[in-house]
Amino acid sequence: MANVFRVDNQIAVVLGGAGGIGEAMASGLAEYGAKVVIADISQERVDAVASDIKAKFKGSEAIGVKFDVTDEKSVAALRDKVVSTFGTVDILVNSHGVNVKKMATEITVSDWDFIFNINVRGTMLSCREFGKVMIKNKKGKVINLSSVRGVRATAWGGNEAYASTKAAIDMITRSLASEWAPHKINVNAIGPSTVATKFSEATLNDPAKLQRFLSSCPLGRVGQPSDMVGACVFLASAASDFMTGQILYLDGGLTAIG
Ligand SMILES: NC(=O)c1ccc[n+]([C@@H]2O[C@H](COP(=O)([O-])OP(=O)(O)OC[C@H]3O[C@@H](n4cnc5c(N)ncnc54)[C@H](O)[C@@H]3O)[C@@H](O)[C@H]2O)c1
Repeated sequence: MANVFRVDNQIAVVLGGAGGIGEAMASGLAEYGAKVVIADISQERVDAVASDIKAKFKGSEAIGVKFDVTDEKSVAALRDKVVSTFGTVDILVNSHGVNVKKMATEITVSDWDFIFNINVRGTMLSCREFGKVMIKNKKGKVINLSSVRGVRATAWGGNEAYASTKAAIDMITRSLASEWAPHKINVNAIGPSTVATKFSEATLNDPAKLQRFLSSCPLGRVGQPSDMVGACVFLASAASDFMTGQILYLDGGLTAIG
C-alpha cells in the first residue's frame, strides 16, 4: 500500500510560515514531499525559513513570500504568486495569529479589531482566495490553527478577544467543510494548548501561569512545535480524506479533563 501520509509534489502554502508552529509545519510538509510556500509579514524571515527547508531536505522546493493577512489585495497577490510559481495550490495552512492579553475592562476597540482582523478575517480571506483555486481543481486540504481556547476559558482571564477568535475559526472550519464538501475540499483545524513559541512566551515566563497550565494538562508538559507536525501532515494527506469539519486537539489532554 502506498504511504498515505506522503504529499509528494503537492503545493502547500503556510500563512504565518515564519512563526514557531508554521515553520515546523512547513518543514514537515516539505519532508513528506510537498513544495512549500512560506508566507509571512517579513521578507527576511520567510526567506530564512525557505532556505533552511531547502538545506534540510535535499531536492525540496520552498519559496518565501511577504504578505499581510489583514490586506485583501495582499492575500489575493499571495494566491497569484503561488499559482504563477507552482501552477496551483493543494494544501493551505492558516498558522498566522496574534493575541493581546488584557482584562475585559481594559481592552480597547483597536486591540479587539487588531486580533479579529488577523485571526478571523485573515483566515476567512485566505480561505476565500485559495478556495477559488481549490474549487476549480475539485481538490484541496485546508488546515486552520484554532486553540483549546476556542472551547475552554483561560483560568487567569484576560483572553476574551483571542478565545472568541478561535471559537470563530472553529465555526469557519465547520461551515466551510460543509460548503466545500461537494468540491472535495477537506477543511479541518488543529487546536493546540500551550506550545513553546514566541507567541506563548508570556505564559512560559510566568511561573504561576506555567504551573497552572501544567496542572491542567494530563501529559504535564508544554507542547513543542514538532508536536504539531504529524497532525498537519495527516490533515494534508490522503490519510484524512474521510475527515472534514473537525478540530483535532493537540493539547496534552487538557480538553479531556477540563
Ligand atoms: N503557541 C501557542 O501556544 C499556541 C496555542 C494555540 C494556538 N496557537 C495558534 O497557532 C498559530 C501559530 O502560532 P505560533 O505559536 O506559531 O505563533 P508565532 O507568533 O510564532 O507565529 C505567528 C505568525 O503569524 C504572523 N503574522 C502575524 N500577523 C500577521 C499578518 N498581519 N500577516 C501575516 N502574518 C502575520 C507572525 O509574523 C508570526 O510569524 C496561531 O494561530 C496561534 O493562535 C498557538
